[in-house]
Amino acid sequence: MDVMVIMGDGIGPEVMKAALRILDVLNDNYSAEINPVIYDINSETLISKKWTLDKIIEEAKRFKVILKAPLGNPKIRSAEGTELALDIVLGLRFGLDLYANIRPIRLLPSVISPLRYFGPGSIDYVIVRENSEGLYASHFGGLILRDELAIDVQTITRKGTERIAEIAFELARSRKGAPSDGIKKVLCIDKSNVLKSFAFFRKIFSEVAKRYSDVEAEFMYADAAAQYMILHPDRLDVIVTENMFGDLLSDLAAATVGGLGLAYSANVSKEAGMFEPVHGSAIDIAGKNIANPVAMLLSLSMMLSWLNMKNLAELVEGAVIKALESGHATPDLGGKDTTTSFTEFVISNLLNN
Ligand code: IPM
Ligand code: MN
Repeated sequence: MDVMVIMGDGIGPEVMKAALRILDVLNDNYSAEINPVIYDINSETLISKKWTLDKIIEEAKRFKVILKAPLGNPKIRSAEGTELALDIVLGLRFGLDLYANIRPIRLLPSVISPLRYFGPGSIDYVIVRENSEGLYASHFGGLILRDELAIDVQTITRKGTERIAEIAFELARSRKGAPSDGIKKVLCIDKSNVLKSFAFFRKIFSEVAKRYSDVEAEFMYADAAAQYMILHPDRLDVIVTENMFGDLLSDLAAATVGGLGLAYSANVSKEAGMFEPVHGSAIDIAGKNIANPVAMLLSLSMMLSWLNMKNLAELVEGAVIKALESGHATPDLGGKDTTTSFTEFVISNLLNN
């Protein structure tokens, strides 16, 4: 099985090398038969036109499975001021119609939450971020007029809302419910009190909810939800929300379970999937061998799970958790490990399984 591997910017190549080492071990010792095909796609190769967005999307469509390191360089920007490499991230999400961005939020063993009342196991929910429309759909449109006025438009469609709500309810069905009460529920987050597009999102979500009477449907405005995620994360099970809100709230959520170094994600449709850390390219710490590879490794685990290699997925996840449990951690978690030393511990856990 061929997988397209995007090396990315900043710490991208370092954390991706960690993932590639794990893949080697899986191929050599567990007959994974995954063939990573390496692409030097990053801000520089985009600006030098070695890669164009069309060509990248064409390649990705051929593979259908993409393992992606973070992209983005704040110094390399479009004429309008957006970061150039983000065209690739959004181009791939929109171009392959990867409409569901699945972001698990779990407090792992030995990780200390800044929320002092919560210990391992007490935070375990999933953010389902709509990934094909919302405010982000304006990225390739939008306009700035006469240096006086700028407009971006939010798009919410019936089809887009139905399919993301379905993914959220199916996911809730497959889970054990919220840690605090074991109740299976989907929380719809919007600002339907203010904007018509969100009122429509809530209406369509409610229609879909009727088909899932075994799962509770809940509603919250995004401002209240931001507070709730800090005060009562143990009551959450599955969240579904619009693209931009999903972006903001997933960083907030990541902070409650140890930070972005641990936050992983899958961008999926029924046909294709792109797996990537939630964090950015952290140019400031690039090349220092101190980046936390966990988000990248758990994204790899999500890819394996999506490919129906559940055993391998659990093996990788277990090896990462065991490394954390035995006290290994990079500096972002207060540890002394380097990217490579942490990865070595994960590998030795894999081999001693
Ligand atoms: C994320 C990132 C992306 C986003 C960027 C890199 C385009 O912040 O995956 O959350 O804004 O969606
Ligand atoms: Mn983000």
